[in-house]
Amino acid sequence: MTGDARFQRHVFICTNRRAPGDPRGSCAASGSEEVRLRFVEELKKHGLGACVRANKSGCLDACAMGPTVVVYPEQIWYRCVRPDDVAEIVEKHLVNGEPVERLRVPAEAWATLEESD
Ligand code: FES
Repeated sequence: MTGDARFQRHVFICTNRRAPGDPRGSCAASGSEEVRLRFVEELKKHGLGACVRANKSGCLDACAMGPTVVVYPEQIWYRCVRPDDVAEIVEKHLVNGEPVERLRVPAEAWATLEESD
């Protein structure tokens, strides 16, 4: 751990829930609360509970890609994360430092999101 940081990393998992029928949908309606619980379990399993924090987050403004997850400080964004994807993210990214490419938000997706706002 560097400096005075309490945690080495934060994993922000959007758990925003909108009313049923809201055209924007929401990450919670797509299963993100279970995704967060899986992060907590997997981090503990790998002994990372004290240095990596799985945070509930409000809307990350990427609703169309939800459930949305972002890892700081490296700012790696994941989209459409399912509970069964979490073990791979923890093992590859948070333990071994290699982001899971198949789940990353591609750079061009941000431009698409801005156009749809
Ligand atoms: S509801 Fe999750 S990013 Fe907006």
